[in-house]
Amino acid sequence: MRIYLIGFMGSGKSHWGHLLSERMTYPFFDLDDVIVQQEGKAITEIFTELGEEEFRRMEKEVLERLTETHPDMILSCGGGTPCFFGNIDYMKEHGKVIWLNTSIDTLVARLMKEKSHRPLLRDIPDAELKAVIIKRLYDRKLYYEQAHLSLPEETLTLEQLQSAIENG
Ligand code: S3P
Repeated sequence: MRIYLIGFMGSGKSHWGHLLSERMTYPFFDLDDVIVQQEGKAITEIFTELGEEEFRRMEKEVLERLTETHPDMILSCGGGTPCFFGNIDYMKEHGKVIWLNTSIDTLVARLMKEKSHRPLLRDIPDAELKAVIIKRLYDRKLYYEQAHLSLPEETLTLEQLQSAIENG
């Protein structure tokens, strides 16, 4: 089974993806990390040197390549992955899509500490971060809500996550 973890930046996709892959003994991939390895550049460099459009093209290409080559896997997507080129439909056709639904306040607290390596956030003053997250999450919910399962992330346990995937 292919499991696609989606959700906003800072929603815990990589964290839960790692745990789940150990538990289910499926290979784990982080979509951003695969792009970084492939390009030999950090995500921020890709955005500044090549632009977001090119990044989105790479993201789609890597999503499809990993999907085609791995009938079983856990894939931690980027926060924007489901929102471009019909990727959400592609993922739903090829596996189970799980939205890690994390509250705004938790996202703000986590992202405040890690703004610098996130190209979409790093130039935003701290005082404006919450408003920007609210706006972007509002725009993206339309896509996240299409996931097969939506799980409240802060109270999640690995057992719940696994049983939701197997039974949900
Ligand atoms: C993005 C999220 C990032 C990364 C890129 C764009 C987004 O991934 O793909 O900076 O559009 O929300 P994470 O959600 O893993 O931080």
